[in-house]
Amino acid sequence: MAKRSPSSSPEDLSPLAAAREWARDRFAVEDLQHLAAKKQVPVHRYTVFYYLGGMALFLFLVQVATGILLLLYYRPSSTEAFESVQYMMADVPFGWLIRSIHSWGANVFVGVVFIHAISVFFLKAYRAPREMTWVTGALLLFLALGFGFSGYLLPWNTLAYFATKVGTDVPAQVPVIGHLLSRILRGGSDVTGATLSRFYGLHVAILPAITTVFLGLHLLLVQRQGMSVPRKIEREGGPPKTMPFVPAFLMRDMVGWLAAIGVLAALAAFFPWELGVKADPFAPAPAGIRPEWFFLWTFQGLKYLPATVLGIPGETLGVLFLGAVAAIFVLIPILDRKLSRAWNAAAILLLIGAAILTVLALMPVKGAA
Ligand code: HEM
Repeated sequence: MAKRSPSSSPEDLSPLAAAREWARDRFAVEDLQHLAAKKQVPVHRYTVFYYLGGMALFLFLVQVATGILLLLYYRPSSTEAFESVQYMMADVPFGWLIRSIHSWGANVFVGVVFIHAISVFFLKAYRAPREMTWVTGALLLFLALGFGFSGYLLPWNTLAYFATKVGTDVPAQVPVIGHLLSRILRGGSDVTGATLSRFYGLHVAILPAITTVFLGLHLLLVQRQGMSVPRKIEREGGPPKTMPFVPAFLMRDMVGWLAAIGVLAALAAFFPWELGVKADPFAPAPAGIRPEWFFLWTFQGLKYLPATVLGIPGETLGVLFLGAVAAIFVLIPILDRKLSRAWNAAAILLLIGAAILTVLALMPVKGAA
């Protein structure tokens, strides 16, 4: 950094150096430089998985940027939503590109967040002291699913309309408060323009606000604790090699981000996101209604349940099971610690995790078939 000599005045400095001086005197730039210089990333055969969190963060920012652009034209009402998206796709310069990147990006984002969660699960990066990093991450995964669910309805097309009817029926199966939950979500007893207003509010205000808080916490924890080193690598000997986060790791991160933008743009250009037909609430439900792939497993799973089991409606049991899976997922760090004391329980947890993942992976395939 250019140091100002006692005799030099701001006029003696180049514009760049003067700008640096200005920023240094007003913000804690040096603290940040210090932090960046200190941050190291362990280098071993699993280092590649450390790029997934950064990729998820980048894709989230792409969603925010493209979402803001879509907001300039989108109209959140059942009479205008479909037409406003149609206008964007046909008449707004590059509107089709932005919408397609947002839709493809949503799917890739959820996929990357899933893979990030799976990788930290198998590397056991959730163990002490990173339990809360896992918990905030798990909540971020639910929030990502919430973005997907609420965003799907916004174009107000037939497929999304009927899938949302089915989707908002699911919480109705929760014992005692189910009907109330479903009514709150729908803004009434059926999916109408009121549902669209609520989903819009969720998608552009409530979920982004909550996500910002949890994302901030997640990143703060990662920053404070540094990256975990898998025990296996630690056991193999000595402290691992490291590379500086700035610039070595960040540069590699950026290569990935550039590739991701390329992939999204290519997907958008070669497979523009379809809009389909405007929703008609009075028409019969068409064949082939399906939610987005990341909800197919719930959709399919609930379909296969028997009508009743021991007098309890099958769907109620299904929803309770889903709630239990979600709770187990959030509590994995605690369960792992408790179970680890028991007989080879960590291996059992791993097996259960692998079995659940296999079922999740196969459901979309079965659904598509
Ligand atoms: C919006 C979604 C998410 C974003 C943007 C995000 C971002 C990040 C970033 C940038 C890192 C540091 C680099 C890395 O290890 O990859 C990280 C680490 C971590 N994340 Fe996430 N994450 C998200 C979701 C999740 C989910 C769903 C989980 C698990 C349920 C999770 C659990 C963790 C854990 C345990 C670490 C520490 C890894 C270690 O120290 O080795 N994250 N995350």
